[in-house]
Amino acid sequence: MTVSFSIFDVPDVAEMLADIQKTAYQDAVEQVWTAEEFTSLMSGPGVCAMVIICDEQPCGFLMWRQVAEEAEILSLCILPEYRRQGHGHRILQKFSGHLALSSVRQIFLEVRENNEAATTLYNNSAFEIVGRRKGYYGRKQDALIMKFTMPEDGLKKIGIGLD
Ligand SMILES: CC(C)(COP(=O)(O)OP(=O)(O)OC[C@H]1O[C@@H](n2cnc3c(N)ncnc32)[C@H](O)[C@@H]1OP(=O)(O)O)[C@@H](O)C(=O)NCCC(=O)NCCS
Repeated sequence: MTVSFSIFDVPDVAEMLADIQKTAYQDAVEQVWTAEEFTSLMSGPGVCAMVIICDEQPCGFLMWRQVAEEAEILSLCILPEYRRQGHGHRILQKFSGHLALSSVRQIFLEVRENNEAATTLYNNSAFEIVGRRKGYYGRKQDALIMKFTMPEDGLKKIGIGLD
């Protein structure tokens, strides 16, 4: 399988991102954005999306907002049939390597505490829990705030390539 990545900073891809996210979240419609919402987000300052392409098919994306030395992951999803093949880890690595070349020193994200796939992926990718929003996703579901800090002595140490 050939895997490549493309970065977009314009809203032209809003429809494609909305389609991928809808399929990725399956029945959890409350967690997805419409194409119009993607257009509005992508029109804002500092918002970009990295799309992972597997054998010429877009199979997931990571969308983020960058403000000075901080970035926030707004959404990360991989289509169900492409999961558990390392693509989530791969796009996270590519993204971190990309931001390492910028002024960004910290990456934040928010994740449902009971989202085992995502929390395990982030834990394994050097993100640490720095906060919790109680009941953020409903009465019994907390949101975890996680942070990745760019290592001073280079990303190679934690296995992130800059190519
Ligand atoms: C979270 C998500 C992006 C992971 O994508 P993925 O391509 O399957 O992830 P990877 O194959 O790179 O997995 C990397 C590691 O994460 C962990 N992981 C991934 N899926 C997992 C699962 N379902 N259960 C437990 N651990 C899991 C494993 O440690 C895995 O390594 P391993 O396969 O060697 O055991 C994907 O499940 C997804 O799109 N989910 C729906 C959207 C979502 O929840 N996004 C996160 C919002 S913050």
